[in-house]
Amino acid sequence: MSVMYLRGGTPLEGELAVHGAKNSVLPILAACLLARGPVTLHNCPRLTDVTAALGILRHLGCRVEQEGHTITVDSTGASGSAVSEEQMRAMRSSIIFLGPLLARTGEAHLTYPGGCELGPRPIDLHLSAIRAMGCQVSEDRGIHCQGRPRGGEVQLALPSVGATENAMLCAVGATGTTTIANAAREPEIGDLQDFLNSLGARVQGAGSSAITIEGGRELSGGELTVMGDRIVAATLLSAAASAGGKVRLSGVDWRHLATVLSVFHQAGCRVESKLEYVELERGREVPLKGVPTIRTAPYPGFPTDAQAPVMAALAASQGCTLFVETMFDSRYRHVPELIRMGADITTEGRVALVRGVERLHGARVEAADLRGGGALAAAALGAEGTTVLSGLNHIDRGYEGLEKMLQCLGASVERREV
Ligand code: UD1
Repeated sequence: MSVMYLRGGTPLEGELAVHGAKNSVLPILAACLLARGPVTLHNCPRLTDVTAALGILRHLGCRVEQEGHTITVDSTGASGSAVSEEQMRAMRSSIIFLGPLLARTGEAHLTYPGGCELGPRPIDLHLSAIRAMGCQVSEDRGIHCQGRPRGGEVQLALPSVGATENAMLCAVGATGTTTIANAAREPEIGDLQDFLNSLGARVQGAGSSAITIEGGRELSGGELTVMGDRIVAATLLSAAASAGGKVRLSGVDWRHLATVLSVFHQAGCRVESKLEYVELERGREVPLKGVPTIRTAPYPGFPTDAQAPVMAALAASQGCTLFVETMFDSRYRHVPELIRMGADITTEGRVALVRGVERLHGARVEAADLRGGGALAAAALGAEGTTVLSGLNHIDRGYEGLEKMLQCLGASVERREV
């Protein structure tokens, strides 16, 4: 088992280019099933979730190569239409293969992704989108979908990111035009739209609540550079806010982080947002301040994935901050660990009240989920003493070499085998 040793108390200093976005590369890899020719993707982060997605593509008969941060996928010989239970379990978002499989083969056999660390993970919206495109869905010992998709009107009851992407991917291979109403507006959906269009698809509206797809066009191979990861950026900025210092991050668009940056500004950090970079500075002698209620919401609201890292930074602050988690049931699993480090936080259902303390202290803590893990690392760098962080399997799903990124910013962090 590996653990991370993090010594707090050193301000972070330096510049870093943020790696590619997990939430962008995963649907794009699934979209490769629709291309008739090789696809080359640049800026792909090396994450265990990406390895799981590549495993699914290989299992379906694609040729896949990964060299550094470049992945090539050739789906010319792909013929499979089933994803195994083991593969579904390895990565909860493997449900994203449903739409492309149907579009390509007219059938898809998957197992139910079940619950995850964040609580129940329903897929009813994915299935109703598929039904709206004329496919039949049976949920008898797995999910079995059949039928060549036809253009239709998809009305999402909630702006689900995954359901929006699945509907887009299915609709690209459908005959006729599909509209998606109440679509999610996350920036990664824009990256998916750009990718599909670069292969010859006609998709428009990403970034708004109404997306239109003219289906049935033959897609070629192509090339794309995956966008930077705004949640990795939010985590690194949280670490800098927690430890103090001055960090500059490139490779992300600050507008995708606007709500998070506004919180750091209100907490007393200096934030500079330019086209090329985002910079955050806090003098270690200037304490963070509590901020008005942080309520997670679909984009462009405050991202649920940034809730834990930002809470970790604000755990040591002057004043109180109230968090309301509206997206997932079980997203405060970092709280007991922060309390071990000296934080004063109470939770009730989806609400958490953080009463800022002067300083956290190092402790042995365990990540229970991906972003909670990033949060504990951020907290540790502002704490007094050494923190030993386990549960790195969660962290490696979404942060490529978190310890190396933090070292690059001058933090005292190392990963050890124990
Ligand atoms: C994506 C992100 C994840 C982020 C989340 C919310 C990826 C790979 N993951 O996850 O990092 O935390 O968006 O921004 O992009 N829901 C239903 N029925 C469904 C689908 C979703 O009720 O069929 C609910 C969920 O339980 C949740 C809400 O909708 O409460 C939002 O989930 P969704 O946007 O679908 O999240 P994911 O796409 O799974």
